[in-house]
Amino acid sequence: MKVQGAEPSERAPQVWAKADEVLERTGLRDNAYLRALAAGELSLPAFRASQAQFYFAVEFFSRPMAALVARIPDPRARLDILHNVVEEHGDFERGRFHETTFRAFLESLGDPPALDELVLWPELRAFNAVIAAACIHDELDVGIACMGIVEHAFATISAKIGRAVVDHGWVAEDQLVHYKLHAEIDERHAEEFYRVIEPGYADESRRYAIEQGLELGAYCFGQLYAGLWRRARAATAAEPATRFEPRISILTLAVDDPAAELAFYREGLGWPASTQGDWAMLHTRGVRLALFPRAALAKDAGRADLPPAGAVTLAYNARSEDEVDALLARAVEAGGALVKPAQTADWGGYSGYFADPEGHLWEVAWGEGWQFGPTGELWGGPLGPPPGPR
Ligand SMILES: [Fe+2]
Repeated sequence: MKVQGAEPSERAPQVWAKADEVLERTGLRDNAYLRALAAGELSLPAFRASQAQFYFAVEFFSRPMAALVARIPDPRARLDILHNVVEEHGDFERGRFHETTFRAFLESLGDPPALDELVLWPELRAFNAVIAAACIHDELDVGIACMGIVEHAFATISAKIGRAVVDHGWVAEDQLVHYKLHAEIDERHAEEFYRVIEPGYADESRRYAIEQGLELGAYCFGQLYAGLWRRARAATAAEPATRFEPRISILTLAVDDPAAELAFYREGLGWPASTQGDWAMLHTRGVRLALFPRAALAKDAGRADLPPAGAVTLAYNARSEDEVDALLARAVEAGGALVKPAQTADWGGYSGYFADPEGHLWEVAWGEGWQFGPTGELWGGPLGPPPGPR
């Protein structure tokens, strides 16, 4: 029985809302694999290899689903999930089996891998084993909720993967199969699961089992994508570099008086440093800051001379407005010059500038919505999402 066109929340409002909350909290629909894919951080061969593995999740998925059908005592409720099983099998048409459309997707990426020769990654076997156990051995509500939330998440995930492969020019928009379909149908599939358990949500012990199933589904699907992300990232990194990763390793300042500059940063600001002759490396987190004698740097870069300091500004992002004031004062105390006292900036934040002893410009700034990771790396808002898996 089809419920096409129905608002998903109408037929299973409570389970849907709870599942949505779980998906938001876990970040499954915005996981590291999807973010890396969208950002162009995965190579096509690495993405293709990870999707070839994912094939085994697609191929397997309808089997625990069919096992669930056998466990549902109410024939009408059984039909909701049975319909989903049938649709996974292309409404009885072999050419439209979901494993077949997924094979077509792999072919559309070019250079398709021989699936029957693939060595399956444990992440895939683990995912398949968990959903099978949930559907066969766990409480019925756990299994149904677990399968439902996987479908629920897959609607958004499919749309994002489809968008990314088209944006990267890997698949022409009119050639996009499988993910295009699932972006459209999987919210309905989720609802077909949820409506079976919705009546039980009012009962405390059944609600517990349903929520356990939602958490389990989000967890094991998240683990699968975390695994795909780690492996695809490692495979991309192992390829001979043909592209620049979006990162900066070292900022090198051309300096006229290396000793005085080093003293400002090491003694004045208190940053750890290592030195080799006239050359110094400040142990800043993430991007390193190096100090190099101007003439030597010009020679190293094959230039006759280098432009004066101040053509580039460096920035230190603070955690509050008060911190901006305090750090500007600290820089002046250490021998820097206050270039511009902190004030409300045109872009809405609060910032000021100081110059190091040779005039290299530093902005110290605070902005609403900026967030700091455990090592002080900056993300949030227009700066982008946090690195790594969620
Ligand atoms: Fe589905």
